Amino acid sequence: MDYHRQPRYVDRVESYAAQCSTDGYERAKDETVSVTDGLALLLVAPPGAGKGTQAPLLASHYDIAHISSGELLRLNVAEGTRIGEVATEYLARGDLVPDDLVIDMLTVPVLEAYRNGGFVLDGFPRTLRQAEEAQRVARQVGGIQLQAVIHLVVPRDELRRRLVDRAEREGRSDDTETTVAHRLEVFDAQTEPLLGYYAERGLVVDIDGEQPVENVYSDIVSAADRLRASRATDGSDT
Ligand code: AP5
Ligand code: MG
Repeated sequence: MDYHRQPRYVDRVESYAAQCSTDGYERAKDETVSVTDGLALLLVAPPGAGKGTQAPLLASHYDIAHISSGELLRLNVAEGTRIGEVATEYLARGDLVPDDLVIDMLTVPVLEAYRNGGFVLDGFPRTLRQAEEAQRVARQVGGIQLQAVIHLVVPRDELRRRLVDRAEREGRSDDTETTVAHRLEVFDAQTEPLLGYYAERGLVVDIDGEQPVENVYSDIVSAADRLRASRATDGSDT
Protein backbone atom coordinates (compact mmCIF):
# COMPACT_ATOMS: atom_id res chain seq x y z
CA MET A 1 0.00 0.00 0.00
CA ASP A 2 2.83 2.40 0.79
CA TYR A 3 4.21 2.85 -2.71
CA HIS A 4 6.59 5.54 -1.49
CA ARG A 5 8.69 2.71 -0.06
CA GLN A 6 9.22 1.29 -3.51
CA PRO A 7 12.38 2.21 -5.46
CA ARG A 8 11.88 5.66 -6.97
CA TYR A 9 11.94 6.21 -10.69
CA VAL A 10 15.51 7.52 -10.72
CA ASP A 11 16.73 4.32 -9.07
CA ARG A 12 14.67 2.41 -11.56
CA VAL A 13 16.30 4.21 -14.48
CA GLU A 14 19.58 2.93 -13.16
CA SER A 15 18.21 -0.56 -12.68
CA TYR A 16 16.64 -0.44 -16.14
CA ALA A 17 19.98 0.59 -17.56
CA ALA A 18 21.72 -2.24 -15.78
CA GLN A 19 19.22 -4.75 -17.17
CA CYS A 20 18.99 -3.51 -20.70
CA SER A 21 22.30 -4.75 -22.00
CA THR A 22 25.13 -6.85 -20.74
CA ASP A 23 27.42 -3.84 -21.15
CA GLY A 24 25.21 -1.82 -18.80
CA TYR A 25 24.22 1.78 -18.70
CA GLU A 26 26.94 3.25 -20.94
CA ARG A 27 25.99 0.96 -23.80
CA ALA A 28 22.31 1.82 -23.28
CA LYS A 29 23.13 5.52 -23.55
CA ASP A 30 25.24 4.93 -26.65
CA GLU A 31 22.31 3.12 -28.23
CA THR A 32 19.94 6.04 -27.77
CA VAL A 33 21.95 9.11 -28.64
CA SER A 34 20.81 9.67 -32.20
CA VAL A 35 17.70 11.88 -32.48
CA THR A 36 16.37 9.70 -35.27
CA ASP A 37 16.64 6.45 -33.28
CA GLY A 38 13.22 6.43 -31.68
CA LEU A 39 9.87 8.03 -32.23
CA ALA A 40 8.26 9.63 -29.21
CA LEU A 41 4.71 10.95 -29.55
CA LEU A 42 2.45 12.20 -26.79
CA LEU A 43 -1.33 12.45 -26.92
CA VAL A 44 -2.54 15.21 -24.61
CA ALA A 45 -6.30 15.65 -24.83
CA PRO A 46 -9.38 15.58 -22.61
CA PRO A 47 -11.42 12.49 -21.75
CA GLY A 48 -13.31 11.23 -24.80
CA ALA A 49 -11.18 13.14 -27.32
CA GLY A 50 -9.95 9.95 -28.98
CA LYS A 51 -6.54 9.23 -27.42
CA GLY A 52 -7.28 5.53 -27.00
CA THR A 53 -8.77 5.34 -30.50
CA GLN A 54 -5.87 7.01 -32.28
CA ALA A 55 -2.94 5.63 -30.25
CA PRO A 56 -3.15 2.02 -31.52
CA LEU A 57 -3.48 3.24 -35.13
CA LEU A 58 -0.36 5.39 -34.73
CA ALA A 59 1.51 2.60 -32.96
CA SER A 60 0.74 0.25 -35.80
CA HIS A 61 1.59 2.82 -38.50
CA TYR A 62 5.00 3.66 -36.99
CA ASP A 63 5.62 0.19 -35.55
CA ILE A 64 6.09 1.56 -32.04
CA ALA A 65 4.56 0.74 -28.65
CA HIS A 66 1.24 2.12 -27.45
CA ILE A 67 1.47 2.89 -23.75
CA SER A 68 -1.73 4.02 -22.04
CA SER A 69 -1.45 5.12 -18.42
CA GLY A 70 -5.21 4.68 -17.90
CA GLU A 71 -5.22 1.15 -19.34
CA LEU A 72 -2.21 0.18 -17.22
CA LEU A 73 -3.88 1.56 -14.10
CA ARG A 74 -7.12 -0.32 -14.86
CA LEU A 75 -5.09 -3.50 -15.40
CA ASN A 76 -3.38 -3.01 -12.05
CA VAL A 77 -6.77 -2.52 -10.39
CA ALA A 78 -8.16 -5.67 -12.06
CA GLU A 79 -5.12 -7.66 -10.95
CA GLY A 80 -5.21 -6.28 -7.39
CA THR A 81 -1.59 -5.13 -7.43
CA ARG A 82 -0.07 -2.63 -4.99
CA ILE A 83 -0.46 0.11 -7.62
CA GLY A 84 -4.05 -0.97 -8.27
CA GLU A 85 -4.93 -0.83 -4.57
CA VAL A 86 -3.78 2.77 -4.35
CA ALA A 87 -5.24 3.83 -7.70
CA THR A 88 -8.76 2.42 -7.23
CA GLU A 89 -10.26 5.31 -5.30
CA TYR A 90 -8.69 7.96 -7.55
CA LEU A 91 -10.01 6.28 -10.70
CA ALA A 92 -13.48 5.94 -9.17
CA ARG A 93 -13.60 9.66 -8.37
CA GLY A 94 -12.06 10.75 -11.68
CA ASP A 95 -9.09 12.30 -9.90
CA LEU A 96 -5.52 11.89 -11.07
CA VAL A 97 -3.57 9.25 -9.19
CA PRO A 98 -0.44 10.56 -7.42
CA ASP A 99 2.38 11.59 -9.73
CA ASP A 100 4.98 9.35 -8.11
CA LEU A 101 2.84 6.27 -8.59
CA VAL A 102 2.33 6.91 -12.30
CA ILE A 103 5.99 7.79 -12.85
CA ASP A 104 7.06 4.60 -11.08
CA MET A 105 4.63 2.55 -13.16
CA LEU A 106 5.72 3.99 -16.51
CA THR A 107 9.44 4.74 -16.37
CA VAL A 108 10.72 1.28 -17.22
CA PRO A 109 8.13 0.45 -19.94
CA VAL A 110 8.66 3.83 -21.60
CA LEU A 111 12.44 3.48 -21.63
CA GLU A 112 12.18 -0.06 -22.96
CA ALA A 113 9.76 1.02 -25.67
CA TYR A 114 12.03 3.85 -26.74
CA ARG A 115 14.96 1.52 -26.97
CA ASN A 116 12.85 -0.74 -29.20
CA GLY A 117 11.84 1.97 -31.65
CA GLY A 118 9.62 4.38 -29.77
CA PHE A 119 6.22 4.94 -28.23
CA VAL A 120 2.97 6.78 -28.42
CA LEU A 121 2.02 7.78 -24.90
CA ASP A 122 -1.72 7.99 -24.28
CA GLY A 123 -2.56 9.87 -21.08
CA PHE A 124 0.93 10.61 -19.75
CA PRO A 125 2.24 13.13 -18.81
CA ARG A 126 -0.86 14.68 -17.32
CA THR A 127 0.59 17.21 -14.90
CA LEU A 128 3.45 19.67 -15.15
CA ARG A 129 5.33 17.68 -12.54
CA GLN A 130 4.98 14.48 -14.58
CA ALA A 131 6.26 16.31 -17.66
CA GLU A 132 9.23 17.77 -15.81
CA GLU A 133 10.17 14.44 -14.25
CA ALA A 134 9.83 12.70 -17.61
CA GLN A 135 12.12 15.28 -19.17
CA ARG A 136 14.64 14.81 -16.39
CA VAL A 137 14.72 11.04 -16.91
CA ALA A 138 14.97 11.55 -20.69
CA ARG A 139 18.01 13.77 -20.19
CA GLN A 140 19.51 11.35 -17.71
CA VAL A 141 19.45 8.40 -20.09
CA GLY A 142 20.29 10.63 -23.07
CA GLY A 143 18.95 10.76 -26.59
CA ILE A 144 15.19 10.65 -25.99
CA GLN A 145 13.59 13.41 -27.98
CA LEU A 146 9.90 14.12 -28.32
CA GLN A 147 8.77 14.58 -31.90
CA ALA A 148 5.24 15.85 -31.31
CA VAL A 149 2.59 16.48 -28.69
CA ILE A 150 -0.76 15.85 -30.30
CA HIS A 151 -3.66 17.84 -28.88
CA LEU A 152 -7.01 16.53 -30.08
CA VAL A 153 -9.50 19.38 -30.08
CA VAL A 154 -13.13 18.35 -29.52
CA PRO A 155 -16.02 20.48 -28.17
CA ARG A 156 -17.25 19.68 -24.67
CA ASP A 157 -20.75 18.59 -25.73
CA GLU A 158 -19.26 16.06 -28.12
CA LEU A 159 -16.90 14.73 -25.42
CA ARG A 160 -19.82 14.19 -23.04
CA ARG A 161 -21.91 12.57 -25.77
CA ARG A 162 -19.11 10.13 -26.65
CA LEU A 163 -18.53 9.12 -23.04
CA VAL A 164 -22.23 8.61 -22.35
CA ASP A 165 -22.40 6.40 -25.47
CA ARG A 166 -19.31 4.50 -24.38
CA ALA A 167 -20.78 3.97 -20.90
CA GLU A 168 -23.77 2.23 -22.49
CA ARG A 169 -21.57 0.07 -24.72
CA GLU A 170 -18.61 -0.73 -22.47
CA GLY A 171 -19.63 0.18 -18.92
CA ARG A 172 -16.30 1.75 -17.93
CA SER A 173 -16.74 2.55 -14.26
CA ASP A 174 -15.57 6.18 -14.54
CA ASP A 175 -17.95 7.03 -17.39
CA THR A 176 -20.82 8.15 -15.15
CA GLU A 177 -22.19 11.64 -15.75
CA THR A 178 -20.78 13.02 -12.47
CA THR A 179 -17.36 11.46 -12.91
CA VAL A 180 -17.09 12.58 -16.53
CA ALA A 181 -17.87 16.16 -15.46
CA HIS A 182 -15.15 15.93 -12.81
CA ARG A 183 -12.60 14.40 -15.22
CA LEU A 184 -13.17 17.34 -17.56
CA GLU A 185 -12.58 19.80 -14.69
CA VAL A 186 -9.42 17.92 -13.73
CA PHE A 187 -8.21 18.14 -17.33
CA ASP A 188 -8.74 21.91 -17.38
CA ALA A 189 -7.03 22.47 -14.05
CA GLN A 190 -4.12 20.02 -14.18
CA THR A 191 -3.48 18.85 -17.73
CA GLU A 192 -4.36 21.76 -19.97
CA PRO A 193 -1.37 23.80 -18.63
CA LEU A 194 0.90 21.15 -20.15
CA LEU A 195 -0.03 22.41 -23.59
CA GLY A 196 1.61 25.76 -22.79
CA TYR A 197 4.68 23.97 -21.45
CA TYR A 198 5.09 21.97 -24.67
CA ALA A 199 4.01 24.84 -26.95
CA GLU A 200 6.99 26.85 -25.67
CA ARG A 201 9.13 24.03 -27.02
CA GLY A 202 7.42 24.12 -30.42
CA LEU A 203 5.98 20.63 -30.02
CA VAL A 204 2.21 21.05 -29.89
CA VAL A 205 0.02 20.25 -32.86
CA ASP A 206 -3.71 20.99 -32.61
CA ILE A 207 -5.73 18.41 -34.51
CA ASP A 208 -9.45 18.68 -35.19
CA GLY A 209 -10.68 15.61 -33.30
CA GLU A 210 -14.30 16.01 -34.34
CA GLN A 211 -13.77 14.52 -37.78
CA PRO A 212 -14.19 10.84 -38.70
CA VAL A 213 -11.56 8.64 -37.03
CA GLU A 214 -9.60 8.04 -40.26
CA ASN A 215 -9.35 11.80 -40.99
CA VAL A 216 -8.12 12.52 -37.46
CA TYR A 217 -5.56 9.76 -37.94
CA SER A 218 -4.27 11.05 -41.29
CA ASP A 219 -4.03 14.61 -39.92
CA ILE A 220 -1.96 13.37 -36.98
CA VAL A 221 0.39 11.38 -39.24
CA SER A 222 0.93 14.35 -41.56
CA ALA A 223 1.62 16.69 -38.65
CA ALA A 224 3.89 14.25 -36.81
CA ASP A 225 5.90 13.55 -39.96
CA ARG A 226 6.28 17.24 -40.62
CA LEU A 227 7.47 18.01 -37.09
CA ARG A 228 9.70 14.97 -37.03
CA ALA A 229 11.42 16.00 -40.25
CA SER A 230 11.96 19.56 -39.08
CA ARG A 231 13.30 18.47 -35.69
CA ALA A 232 15.68 15.95 -37.28
CA THR A 233 17.05 18.81 -39.39
CA ASP A 234 17.51 21.37 -36.61
CA GLY A 235 18.43 18.76 -33.97
CA SER A 236 17.06 20.88 -31.12
CA ASP A 237 16.81 19.46 -27.61
CA THR A 238 13.53 19.46 -25.72
P1 AP5 B 1 -7.65 7.50 -19.15
O1 AP5 B 1 -7.87 6.07 -19.31
O2 AP5 B 1 -6.49 8.12 -19.81
O3 AP5 B 1 -9.00 8.23 -19.51
P2 AP5 B 1 -9.34 9.69 -20.07
O4 AP5 B 1 -8.23 10.64 -20.23
O5 AP5 B 1 -10.47 10.13 -19.20
O6 AP5 B 1 -9.75 9.44 -21.52
P3 AP5 B 1 -10.70 8.35 -22.14
O7 AP5 B 1 -10.02 7.05 -22.16
O8 AP5 B 1 -12.05 8.42 -21.50
O9 AP5 B 1 -10.87 8.98 -23.58
P4 AP5 B 1 -9.91 8.88 -24.85
O10 AP5 B 1 -9.34 10.22 -25.16
O11 AP5 B 1 -8.99 7.72 -24.74
O12 AP5 B 1 -11.01 8.63 -25.95
P5 AP5 B 1 -11.43 7.27 -26.70
O13 AP5 B 1 -10.49 7.01 -27.82
O14 AP5 B 1 -11.68 6.19 -25.71
O15 AP5 B 1 -7.51 7.83 -17.58
C1 AP5 B 1 -8.46 7.30 -16.68
C2 AP5 B 1 -8.05 7.66 -15.26
O16 AP5 B 1 -6.75 7.10 -14.96
C3 AP5 B 1 -7.88 9.16 -14.96
O17 AP5 B 1 -9.11 9.77 -14.64
C4 AP5 B 1 -6.91 9.11 -13.77
O18 AP5 B 1 -7.60 8.75 -12.60
C5 AP5 B 1 -5.99 7.96 -14.13
N1 AP5 B 1 -4.80 8.38 -14.89
C6 AP5 B 1 -4.49 8.03 -16.18
N2 AP5 B 1 -3.32 8.56 -16.54
C7 AP5 B 1 -2.87 9.28 -15.47
C8 AP5 B 1 -1.72 10.07 -15.24
N3 AP5 B 1 -0.77 10.26 -16.19
N4 AP5 B 1 -1.59 10.67 -14.04
C9 AP5 B 1 -2.50 10.50 -13.06
N5 AP5 B 1 -3.63 9.75 -13.22
C10 AP5 B 1 -3.81 9.15 -14.42
O19 AP5 B 1 -12.81 7.75 -27.33
C11 AP5 B 1 -13.94 7.97 -26.52
C12 AP5 B 1 -15.19 7.47 -27.26
O20 AP5 B 1 -15.35 8.26 -28.43
C13 AP5 B 1 -15.06 6.02 -27.72
O21 AP5 B 1 -16.30 5.40 -27.59
C14 AP5 B 1 -14.65 6.16 -29.21
O22 AP5 B 1 -15.14 5.08 -29.97
C15 AP5 B 1 -15.31 7.47 -29.61
N6 AP5 B 1 -14.54 8.20 -30.62
C16 AP5 B 1 -13.18 8.35 -30.68
N7 AP5 B 1 -12.83 9.09 -31.74
C17 AP5 B 1 -13.99 9.44 -32.35
C18 AP5 B 1 -14.27 10.23 -33.53
N8 AP5 B 1 -13.29 10.81 -34.27
N9 AP5 B 1 -15.56 10.39 -33.88
C19 AP5 B 1 -16.55 9.82 -33.15
N10 AP5 B 1 -16.34 9.05 -32.04
C20 AP5 B 1 -15.07 8.87 -31.64
MG1 MG C 1 -8.51 6.32 -23.28
